[in-house]
Amino acid sequence: MRLIIPIKHMIDCSPRGAGFEAFHFIKKRRSDIFSETTGVLTEEGQKWHEVRSKVQQDLMRPKSALFYVDGLQEVAQDFVNFIREKRDLGNGGTMNDFLPDIYKFTLESITLVALDSRVGCLEPEMDPEIAKVFSATKVLFENFAPLLIDFPWWKYVPPRWHRRYRETEDGFEVLLNFGQKKVAEAIAKMEKKRDDLGGEVSVLEKLIIRNGEDSGIPIVMALDMMLAGIDTTGNTLGFLLYNLAVNPEKQEKLREECLRSGERLTPQTLDKMRYYKACARESLRLTPTIPAFVRNIVDDVVIQGYNIPKDTMVLWHPAIMSQQEEHFPDWNVFRPERWLSESKENKICPYASRQFSKGPRMCIGKRFAELELLLVTHRLISNFDIKWTGRTPLTLSRGLINVPDYPLNFQFVDLKNKQW
Ligand code: HEM
Repeated sequence: MRLIIPIKHMIDCSPRGAGFEAFHFIKKRRSDIFSETTGVLTEEGQKWHEVRSKVQQDLMRPKSALFYVDGLQEVAQDFVNFIREKRDLGNGGTMNDFLPDIYKFTLESITLVALDSRVGCLEPEMDPEIAKVFSATKVLFENFAPLLIDFPWWKYVPPRWHRRYRETEDGFEVLLNFGQKKVAEAIAKMEKKRDDLGGEVSVLEKLIIRNGEDSGIPIVMALDMMLAGIDTTGNTLGFLLYNLAVNPEKQEKLREECLRSGERLTPQTLDKMRYYKACARESLRLTPTIPAFVRNIVDDVVIQGYNIPKDTMVLWHPAIMSQQEEHFPDWNVFRPERWLSESKENKICPYASRQFSKGPRMCIGKRFAELELLLVTHRLISNFDIKWTGRTPLTLSRGLINVPDYPLNFQFVDLKNKQW
């Protein structure tokens, strides 16, 4: 509990510090797109506040995510079909080194949300253009952490002499060109259906309507969503499937709930997935995807006797609290029930496990990530008995996000008594 006051203070100050400096620099070099803003991920202070206020409502309203319930279920079903096609049936239905396949699913999902497009990442053969986008995202994720942590040589020499900088700039260019094409297509589609734009529309359409067709905000936000929404959601799904596979009795309990909820979930039936929600929270607690949230302290401050001078970079490691006996008895046991038995007397501290952070700069894609994870887990668990064939226990390495130390190896076995 002693950690709560510093955490609360920290997350209320908005600057994230020099963390994404290289990305900020890369974006600034494309002033044709990023003159208005470089986006929420990379802006600081007042400039961050301005852009966040322009996109906050369209991304954080529950209805914005619910717009995708059907679309994301189609992506989830395609992922089930993809696994059926690709698993090694001669070997009990194994899918070895499954994480890159999960990234295909999360790229397909995020392009639906951010760019209004299905792009075929889960087709047996990816279209060459989308294969290039997929490879570009891989390069960007590999270079994120070194560009953030290593000495920034790229600042002191012509930046493109620096290999990681050059690869990242080239990868970003691929994403940018793809994004621009998709935004142009969305604008053209909107022109055609101008009279039908009264009801709930997609996030991209909302951003175009609110900010204008000539604004850079829609493409800038779409790129931020792609940068922040593929590997985060991907690893979270990988860890959740691992936890369910090594705890078959919990998986079975979740399956009962999934099958009871029916094949197609609706905004109404989503709320009934209470055991799923407990599993998702428990998995993020035990195998967190984000190792640390970063803030730059804006004023000198004394917290619990510690003098923290202005401009100090402070890290909040969520796992320090979420893996403490004091907050979670038997902390190293995957026990979703602990989230269901919360009562006034047995209340879990609201800061003890917060993977999407808190405060004005918390994850802006939380609702989409949660929905995507729920829908795909519902489909997978309703179709397969999922077994773990990889190394146990799975340990994680910290980078910009936590990644598994070993390949994610699963077996996907068809259910015998599936009712739908
Ligand atoms: C399980 C998956 C995810 C987790 C655990 C996660 C977690 C986080 C965290 C911890 C932050 C930093 C918050 C802070 O500094 O206080 C963040 C920021 C952000 N996330 Fe997520 N995220 C996930 C998925 C997504 C998705 C799917 C999207 C896009 C739809 C997204 C978009 C963003 C953006 C744009 C930011 C920067 C927000 C800002 O600085 O204003 N995230 N996320």
